[in-house]
Amino acid sequence: MTLATTEPTPWEEPSTWLREPLYTLAFRRGLERHRRATPRAISPTVGTPTGATPDELWRSLCAALSRRSNLRTLELDLAGKAGQRARDYWRRFSRHYRKVGAAREKALEHALTFELMDLSRARRYCDVASAKSPIQHALRAEYPALDLYRQDLLYETDLSRRIIGGYAQNMTQIADGFFDALALHCSFEHFAGSSDVEFVSEVDRVLGSRGACLILPLYMANEHRVYFDPSIVPPGQLASYDDGARLCAAWHYRQHHGRFYSPEALGARLLAAVPSGLSATLLHFVNGQSIDPSVYLRFGLVLHRPESILTI
Ligand SMILES: C[S@@+](CC[C@H](N)C(=O)[O-])C[C@H]1O[C@@H](n2cnc3c(N)ncnc32)[C@H](O)[C@@H]1O
Repeated sequence: MTLATTEPTPWEEPSTWLREPLYTLAFRRGLERHRRATPRAISPTVGTPTGATPDELWRSLCAALSRRSNLRTLELDLAGKAGQRARDYWRRFSRHYRKVGAAREKALEHALTFELMDLSRARRYCDVASAKSPIQHALRAEYPALDLYRQDLLYETDLSRRIIGGYAQNMTQIADGFFDALALHCSFEHFAGSSDVEFVSEVDRVLGSRGACLILPLYMANEHRVYFDPSIVPPGQLASYDDGARLCAAWHYRQHHGRFYSPEALGARLLAAVPSGLSATLLHFVNGQSIDPSVYLRFGLVLHRPESILTI
């Protein structure tokens, strides 16, 4: 007997039909193990809810942080010039994003790096926590004279190839004031424990006199939360996750650590660590959906010298 369909039958591809029940089992077992290993409460969630709309969060941020002298708040409409730049970027470089998840979002973040920093004034750029980022292709095409470095925890340092391995908060091989531009895309939320705060000091050390460090996205919620996927995080690891944050076990998150700051935690934890030589600009992006419905960028942060290559 022949089957009337060319679709693979379930018993031909057990990995597909087994994937969901296996994940469910790993999630439940992981959650139980974590609950045994920590006295802290763990809230299961579906996705990574923020507890408030982006506009509500922005209003709370402005109210909570408006008195800080080294902080500027800025709203950027992605239906305008920046959005046009993102569309041009996509037309020119989308071929490098074919194998990238959330490709339109990533490409937007990379395009905004070109829009928000004047890289023609930069000599040395470092793509921090770069993984396999396609931005390197666009950077080489747009700014061939730029000295491009890539950094990630996964790399082994090889300065002859402009590669920096290890923790971004501890770039010991790099001289003071070495970089004019740093950018982090889809990565700062993964800086677990005190690495986010320590990174602020390292930015101050490695940035030159006109330098800027762009962080996109900056994740915000109505309370300080750390999301994680219990199916992949080993028991015991939660001990290093922020005290005072709500621990949230996120279904299908597939990430070890995703920090969402509350307006208060952003101020008390991160902005309080910004030294006098640096300023901070907090960005609120609106109308990102006009670029593509998949865009989720809402907030960003720039740490920069008072006179820097920032264009805004
Ligand atoms: C989602 S990937 C980054 C994607 C990439 N920036 C892009 O635009 O395609 C997150 C990366 O952060 C890196 N990472 C996490 N914590 C880090 C730290 N403290 N220092 C350096 N890299 C870190 C991980 O190794 C991982 O490769």
